[in-house]
Amino acid sequence: MSLLKKKSQSNTNLLEINRVTKSFGGLKAVNNCSFNIKKGSITGLIGPNGAGKTTLFNVITGQLPADEGSIKIDGEEITELPSYKTFKKGIVRTFQIPRELKRMTVLENLMVIKSNQSGENLFTTWLNPWKVKREEIDNLNKAEEILDFLKLSHLADEYAGNLSTGQKKLLEIGRTLMSEPKIILLDEPAAGVNPTLMNNIVERIVAISKERKITFLIIEHNMELIMNLCNPIIVMSSGSKLAEGNPRSVRNNPVVIDAYLGN
Ligand SMILES: Nc1ncnc2c1ncn2[C@@H]1O[C@H](COP(=O)(O)OP(=O)(O)O)[C@@H](O)[C@H]1O
Ligand SMILES: [Mg+2]
Repeated sequence: MSLLKKKSQSNTNLLEINRVTKSFGGLKAVNNCSFNIKKGSITGLIGPNGAGKTTLFNVITGQLPADEGSIKIDGEEITELPSYKTFKKGIVRTFQIPRELKRMTVLENLMVIKSNQSGENLFTTWLNPWKVKREEIDNLNKAEEILDFLKLSHLADEYAGNLSTGQKKLLEIGRTLMSEPKIILLDEPAAGVNPTLMNNIVERIVAISKERKITFLIIEHNMELIMNLCNPIIVMSSGSKLAEGNPRSVRNNPVVIDAYLGN
């Protein structure tokens, strides 16, 4: 596993989260939370259950509006954008529970993700059908290449609903790759996944990071996975950032140990 250890690759911030708050009634699920994600990093986000990690993901992607604070990608303000627009800015995510389209094949699950395709525009279809056709072929090639990269090619024609949990998690990662994102947010990619497939997922994340220069922010409860895969690691508790640092400093930080034991 130590070979997979990954250092932040630059000092430039890709994502800046500044004093973000999100309440549900009287509960501040995310509370004045600030941190930055470095370009090229595989950053871990950990914290006890209910710390606000998933809510923060929802706010970053625009699935939920922030009450206060600001979020920027590459210096550009995106706080108010809904999720279809943050998607176009290069932010994609997976969900704690996989959301594969069960009655579509694995290949089709990838092919329905189209970014900025002219085929969606009626006039382009009418004026230039050959361009649309070519884009469909490109899309198919891209989907097949991603399945190959994720070692899922043998399942291309299988209904997505029939996959194991680990295979579904890989498929979700594949769906994020279709749009050629800047950053992928993964919500518990290893939960419910058997150890062999988990190693495969870890390996693929490292490969995507290296080969495609995509930044990752990963929520995960599996400490071994987080400690081996991520650097830095950000710790959230009660909606705010509690600590941030390399795996060793986070593991030995008494404040972090208290937050877990106190839960
Ligand atoms: N849609 C919602 N409505 C009301 N409360 C919510 C909602 N989503 C999350 N919460 C609450 O916000 C807090 C943070 O939840 P969540 O972001 O899911 O935490 P984590 O992902 O760190 O386990 C929890 O107390 C949770 O019950
Ligand atoms: Mg969660």
